Amino acid sequence: MELYTLAIETSCDDTSISILEGIEVISLKTFSQIKDHKKFGGVIPEIASRLHSKYIFDIIKETIFEAGIKLNDINRIAVTGGPGLVNTLQVGIVVAKTLSLLLNIPIYDINHVEAHAYSPFIGKNAKRIPKRAIVLIVSGGHTEISIKKDWTFKKIGETKDDSIGEAYDKVAKILKLGYPGGPAIDKIYSTIESDGIKCPVSNLENYDFSYSGLKSHVMNKSKDKKNDFKSLAKGFQTSAIQQLVIKVKKAIEEHKIKNVIVGGGVSANSLLREKLLELRDVNLHLPKIMYTGDNAAMIGYLAAIKIESNQLKPSSLKLDAEPRRKI
Ligand code: KG4
Ligand code: ZN
Repeated sequence: MELYTLAIETSCDDTSISILEGIEVISLKTFSQIKDHKKFGGVIPEIASRLHSKYIFDIIKETIFEAGIKLNDINRIAVTGGPGLVNTLQVGIVVAKTLSLLLNIPIYDINHVEAHAYSPFIGKNAKRIPKRAIVLIVSGGHTEISIKKDWTFKKIGETKDDSIGEAYDKVAKILKLGYPGGPAIDKIYSTIESDGIKCPVSNLENYDFSYSGLKSHVMNKSKDKKNDFKSLAKGFQTSAIQQLVIKVKKAIEEHKIKNVIVGGGVSANSLLREKLLELRDVNLHLPKIMYTGDNAAMIGYLAAIKIESNQLKPSSLKLDAEPRRKI
């Protein structure tokens, strides 16, 4: 009999709960707080943690109902311990610990960024995950590139300023295109027939990224009334994505690795997907769109495959949030 995992993700502005049977996701419910943070143009941590504690129990009840099981059927809990916002992580952790105590079942602490790295494989057996791969994580909190070897990751580059998701959100705010900026700009990109307004592509040494120069460039260009905002958004996306593709190509060549894994909210981007699919002789591993953003299914899946492969031990009830945890 396969075991049931209840997974909890509250690292930022999504309250997400999932039930897995073995490595299969049988239900997933995510309550996005986007509309509550929209008017501020970004996530307000205090509002986020209040909303998590307000809705998390209803979401747990609905997810269990949808899975067709009872609370008592759950065999283990997986929870995001970090990185993320300390107050929001704490909500998920306290709920996880309480359930673990009441149901007398183990609790497993999962790294959010690592879970994004495994999100393309949800539902697949651990044997089907490449042992060596280049891993690109692109989200609102992270822009980093690592080399995966078995179950470990060696980070080789990261952003020196804004993350790419942050740049999308800030640029969309400057251009009055709405929040979150990624989906808004991505949609506009395909509706503009011209190439858009050309923007410079940052190319830091090695594998590091930078997005603040591009953001300032867009800001300056937006002050000139002659520049159409949609063409500017298109130029921004071309430059932002090109920077990622340059680094991925460099890593493929220098490290002689054929497997490329991409995860995080920005991995939903249509231009990024198109450009990476054009790379020759590369095995590209992309998450299904439903698993690109923050979700508890990836947390439960990583716990399940790691436990199965003897890579994860239960945590104690002293488990604490680690907001700056590294991959
Ligand atoms: O992984 P995620 O849901 O949350 C974090 O862990 O940060 O990523 C959210 C980010 C936001 O900045 C959002 O604008 C961006 O992902 N995003 C996109 C797209 N969809 C979401 N960026 C570019 N293109 C998209 N299609
Ligand atoms: Zn994330």
